[in-house]
Amino acid sequence: MLKDKNILLGVTGGIAAYKAPGIVSLLRKKGANVKVIMTKAACEFVTPLTFQTMSNNIVHTEMFNQLSNMDVEHISLAKWADLIIIAPASANTIAKMANGIADNMLSTVLLAARSKILVAPAMNTFMLNNVATVENLNTLRQRGVTILDTQSDVLACGDEGSGKMLEPKEIVDEIDTALTKKDLLGKRFVITSGPTVEKVDPVRYISNHSSGKMGYALANAAVKRGAEVVLISGPTSLQKPHVKKVIDIETTLDMYNAVEEEFNSCDVLIKAAAPADYRPKTYSEEKIKKDGKTDFESIELVPNPDIAKHFGNLKKNQILVGFAAESHNEIEYAKGKLKKKNLDMIVVNNIKREGAGFKSDTNIASIINAAGEVDSLEIMTKEELAEEILNRIVKLF
Ligand SMILES: Cc1cc2nc3c(=O)[nH]c(=O)nc-3n(C[C@H](O)[C@H](O)[C@H](O)COP(=O)(O)O)c2cc1C
Repeated sequence: MLKDKNILLGVTGGIAAYKAPGIVSLLRKKGANVKVIMTKAACEFVTPLTFQTMSNNIVHTEMFNQLSNMDVEHISLAKWADLIIIAPASANTIAKMANGIADNMLSTVLLAARSKILVAPAMNTFMLNNVATVENLNTLRQRGVTILDTQSDVLACGDEGSGKMLEPKEIVDEIDTALTKKDLLGKRFVITSGPTVEKVDPVRYISNHSSGKMGYALANAAVKRGAEVVLISGPTSLQKPHVKKVIDIETTLDMYNAVEEEFNSCDVLIKAAAPADYRPKTYSEEKIKKDGKTDFESIELVPNPDIAKHFGNLKKNQILVGFAAESHNEIEYAKGKLKKKNLDMIVVNNIKREGAGFKSDTNIASIINAAGEVDSLEIMTKEELAEEILNRIVKLF
């Protein structure tokens, strides 16, 4: 969503200015064009040269002595921007914004801006909670400016509390969200993700290599596009996405029960998880020993419920998307699954192909629709694949 977007970054005089080059770097990696305006105070913390090098653009610090062309620069910069982000935003610049003061390049551009504006405050807790700052932030909110959260931590000044600027990645995610078309607004998604774990004894379990990356990418992308998301997640070390609800589960039976709770109220169920098809028939309360008596040469397994098939049969208006990870004949198997489980779409990949495996950040998938039409995609990141899947779901509504 950030590709070819014009992002204007305003940097003000706070210690968190040292993090702002990280924002430029991430934005550029995602294909955005970035221009930077720095206040005089910001230049005390980081040099314009840093931003110039990272953005590959001239950095604007002065109103008057930098006329590089015949443009009225504060106006042309305001017009150029698809979105303006102030990070870090000092109490002083926030106060200027709230009061319409235009006494430097940044505050003047902000007054001329017609694009979306995001503000990432960064300051001492007492400055943030000062009634003047609180009122200024409320004024900006009422005018449609998005005020990002701050984090609570030990701050640079040694005080502890809120006021720490979000990390560059979180800020870039917020920018991405702000620029994303909300074509899933009002839709409720249930997404299952990751592996399940079927315990044998207190030490051992049966599981699989699923990392949860695909399900988490789908959850993040759906939220960005305006959906309300319930994520049902098997054990994974991934950072939890900011969704409506995360339900942590361990076993396939847990996952089945969680889907059952959520299914009736959802518009879309995406089964991106890899639930174990079988579980041990019995669970040993004590660790099974190699003592010749309880030594296990085999584990008796019983089948788990087929979640996709069960809810495929139950579905009324819901859209049901399944996944298949195969090692051979993937299209044929996926078409069979699509029919058998009454899916509206299936995403299939051959786990043996390089770049398509479980823990990989990329995938090489084919998407098959209910009519059995196969759309084979190039290698892409799981985030990109999530967008492709959601684009097709939007068309099904
Ligand atoms: C070491 C140091 C750190 C500062 N950190 C912050 C800060 O994190 N947030 C803030 O609002 N002001 C901070 N200030 C004060 C601002 O730099 C000051 O209010 C300045 O006028 C802001 O100007 P600007 O809004 O034009 O950038 C700091 C000042 C110093 C000397």
